[in-house]
Amino acid sequence: MAKKTWLGIALLISFGAGSLLIHSVVFASTKPKEPSFAKNLQVLTFLKSKQQLKDWMHMFKTSLGVNCDFCHNTNNFASDAKPPKRIARVMLKMLLKIRKEYFSFPNAKMPTCYTCHRGQKVPEIEPASGFKGFTKTGAMIDMVSGK
Ligand code: HEC
Ligand code: HEC
Repeated sequence: MAKKTWLGIALLISFGAGSLLIHSVVFASTKPKEPSFAKNLQVLTFLKSKQQLKDWMHMFKTSLGVNCDFCHNTNNFASDAKPPKRIARVMLKMLLKIRKEYFSFPNAKMPTCYTCHRGQKVPEIEPASGFKGFTKTGAMIDMVSGK
């Protein structure tokens, strides 16, 4: 009985290790090409230089009125441990999509994080006097039905 349990555990461990190996091989071949100056860029993969990365980070920092450590462990910038960094990545995807899909007309001024955030961590959703017909989550009532 005890022998069987140990065999079971040994098998589990070896299968685990095997799938981990397969996993890393598959991911190594499908991962988008990483710029040499960073370890964990998932969205800004099109950047050509460290200076461009610095410019983007400065834009983030200034737009939200924060310091680098709001999003980063400054001993390890590649780490995704801080939630604001992970939210920022979602926001970044949104911004790039907005730019591409809605600002393709000639001489369009490209929106930035500042366009919404205006130097604040959480942008203001309503003017001080408030809106009528909006829910707490910001979805307009009857926007879909048009009623
Ligand atoms: C609002 C959040 C936010 C702020 C503020 C911010 N960053 Fe970032 N930073 C990110 C995100 C998100 C990424 C990853 C982008 C991606 O996946 O393409 C990143 C990536 C980086 C990387 C690449 C790390 C690697 O090896 O993958 C460096 C270096 C970096 N930031 C430095 C800075 C510095 C220096 C500052 C301050 C001037 C700063 N960041 C401010 C969100 C932020
Ligand atoms: C279309 C408007 C808009 C744009 C553009 C935008 N954001 Fe946001 N962002 C928001 C809103 C609204 C919230 C608040 C969401 C909530 O709290 O539910 C938010 C929240 C955040 C938060 C979480 C802050 C906190 O303390 O909870 C981060 C981090 C953030 N945005 C980063 C960015 C970055 C970086 C960019 C540029 C790449 C960006 N945002 C562009 C609208 C925007």
